[in-house]
Amino acid sequence: MTPNGSSFSRSVMPMNRDDSASHEASTASGEQTAPAAVSGPSVKIRARDINVFYGEKQALFDVAIDIPEKSVTSFIGPSGCGKSTFLRCMNRMNDTIPICRVTGAIEMDGEDVNDRSIDPVVLRARVGMVFQKPNPFPKSIYENVAYGPRIHGLATGKDELDAIVESSLRRAGLWDEVSDRLLQPGTGLSGGQQQRLVIARAIAVGPEVILMDEPCSALDPIATAKIEELIDELREQFCIVIVTHSMAQAARVSQRTAFFHMGRLVESGATDEIFTNPRDSRTQDYITGRFG
Ligand SMILES: Nc1ncnc2c1ncn2[C@@H]1O[C@H](COP(=O)(O)OP(=O)(O)OP(=O)(O)O)[C@@H](O)[C@H]1O
Ligand SMILES: [Mg+2]
Repeated sequence: MTPNGSSFSRSVMPMNRDDSASHEASTASGEQTAPAAVSGPSVKIRARDINVFYGEKQALFDVAIDIPEKSVTSFIGPSGCGKSTFLRCMNRMNDTIPICRVTGAIEMDGEDVNDRSIDPVVLRARVGMVFQKPNPFPKSIYENVAYGPRIHGLATGKDELDAIVESSLRRAGLWDEVSDRLLQPGTGLSGGQQQRLVIARAIAVGPEVILMDEPCSALDPIATAKIEELIDELREQFCIVIVTHSMAQAARVSQRTAFFHMGRLVESGATDEIFTNPRDSRTQDYITGRFG
């Protein structure tokens, strides 16, 4: 794993759409049809028959989706519909919730993430996560980024670690703002800078997938625009999944969108199509603001 590999070309919004992608919808009975294969970019994560229970209460029902490589997929839907729960299935964060039980299969590059041979700590480096509230460690800016590569043994010496820290901060669009104060606390940065620091921390361990759970909901419009621009750059290298309550944000940053409602994945497909030509009346009602 070399986290400081190729550089990114800067693309300009509005973002490109992946029009070749397929569109899947549930049937009238609410049963989800098997997702058609994603055409164009290859599938990074394939989920089938995902059911999640918190104790007796079922939070997700038979979720099946293909999430493409090098692309941004948005999860949208009303509060409590299971977006965060499904996100946590992908890096086994639900394992950390004692009452949570997950059934079904999630494959990353064809490999079952729930297989006993998979170390969840290594999986969570491969599938990084960014939360609603920026959560830098109570350490310096440098240490926030260096911590992961150090514990995963990704650098052989100080020079290499310095290089990983710099390249990760550059990729997160933060280097120019913090290069002269790397030893100051990460918690002293603005909210938007902290969120980019957390993204740099995720990038530093060479992830393949980055999950973002409402990453901009605590940010002002300028900081939000920076994160959105960053997401658009990062998709050239990573598979990104973003949960958002902002339809405008989903339309701006994602090539594919999945709509969840009451624990079910109602439909997923190319973002343009979901927003302009949804197949299910529940999706239509949600995107037109009739509920949620
Ligand atoms: N740790 C938990 N223990 C018990 N129930 C939970 C837990 N986490 C989530 N749930 C329940 O699972 C369901 C789905 O919750 P989840 O947080 O995944 O929804 P969400 O779509 O992310 O909502 P929001 O948009 O408000 O973040 C809800 O009914 C919620 O109350
Ligand atoms: Mg949530």
